[in-house]
Amino acid sequence: MKTILSGVQATGKMHIGNYLGAMKPWVDWQNQGRAFFFIPDLHTLNVRPDAETLRGNIYDTVAWLLAVGIDPRKSTIFVQSRVPAHAELCWILQNYVTMGELNRMTQYKDKSSKRGADGQVVALYTYPVLMAADILLYSADIVPVGEDQKQHVELTRDIATRMNNIYGDCFVVPEPALPQVGARVMSLTTPTIKMSKSDANQNGNIMLADEPKVITKKIKRAVTDSGSTIELSDDKPAIANLLQVYAGFSDMSVPEVANKYAGVGYGTFKTELAELVVEQISQLQMDYEVIRQDKKRLDDVIEEGSQRAAGIAQKKLNGIKQKIGLT
Ligand code: AMP
Ligand code: TRP
Repeated sequence: MKTILSGVQATGKMHIGNYLGAMKPWVDWQNQGRAFFFIPDLHTLNVRPDAETLRGNIYDTVAWLLAVGIDPRKSTIFVQSRVPAHAELCWILQNYVTMGELNRMTQYKDKSSKRGADGQVVALYTYPVLMAADILLYSADIVPVGEDQKQHVELTRDIATRMNNIYGDCFVVPEPALPQVGARVMSLTTPTIKMSKSDANQNGNIMLADEPKVITKKIKRAVTDSGSTIELSDDKPAIANLLQVYAGFSDMSVPEVANKYAGVGYGTFKTELAELVVEQISQLQMDYEVIRQDKKRLDDVIEEGSQRAAGIAQKKLNGIKQKIGLT
């Protein structure tokens, strides 16, 4: 049986890129093997969140996972900081990865190029090593992620292979798995950049918590390309992105959606897209509200999942310590 593992940060606010690119595909993945989904809260410290906000965001994120359909009876849902083995293995792995490798990570390069490398916290730089520890502790075969995280999974493969070569079988070498639709949902206002929570222009993203009328307004105002009718083409990146969003929410493929709307005007397509997205997000929001109120249930899910995860992770860590001579 395959082991599947992925994580979503507790930044509290989830957009449709996180939903289509990550959480929604996880619902299918949990039926295809032994699944682990977790909140990498240690990773989130690199933005130094306010303590009370972080505490609340962890609950929010677990509640979203449950609302979209991750089922704690099928999947292990846990919080990274509750499993001490992550930080410990991260330290060990730092000895098997070079500055050169970390310098090449595009997410780090993007963030540090905006504000200069000298002022960046060390944890932002070593972030991919902690991510490697997250993955390798559970012997994950498959790591479902959006496009932006693929490079980090590739680094994880390199670290695992390197240690396997030195010490013999240490780790399973994982494969990244990108979703068929929604791997890279772009900003609605600037379709050349990916949708993100930190987008300065909040009209560029649709948050799962947005009210229906806000969602409709954002879709109606989304930029379109030249021309006036729907057509799937390389010179229509804005339309391609909207078609992708429609496909993600309707479970159709992008070419199927493009066919359905071939020759239809942008206005009509946007109206129908808005209806589809509003209908689905409204349902998710109703489920979310009920789950988020039930703090006891959330605590139980986190506690049970984290204990199960800790048992597996500690065993793996003990084996590695033995191999490298610490015990
Ligand atoms: P983050 O919000 O950065 O913690 O990302 C959580 C998950 O959502 C990761 O698997 C990302 O690859 C995915 N993700 C983030 N932004 C997007 C986007 N614009 N399109 C598709 N997937 C995304
Ligand atoms: N870095 C990922 C993100 O920002 C979150 C993450 C942390 C993750 N550890 C992971 C994803 C391990 C997959 C596997 O989206």
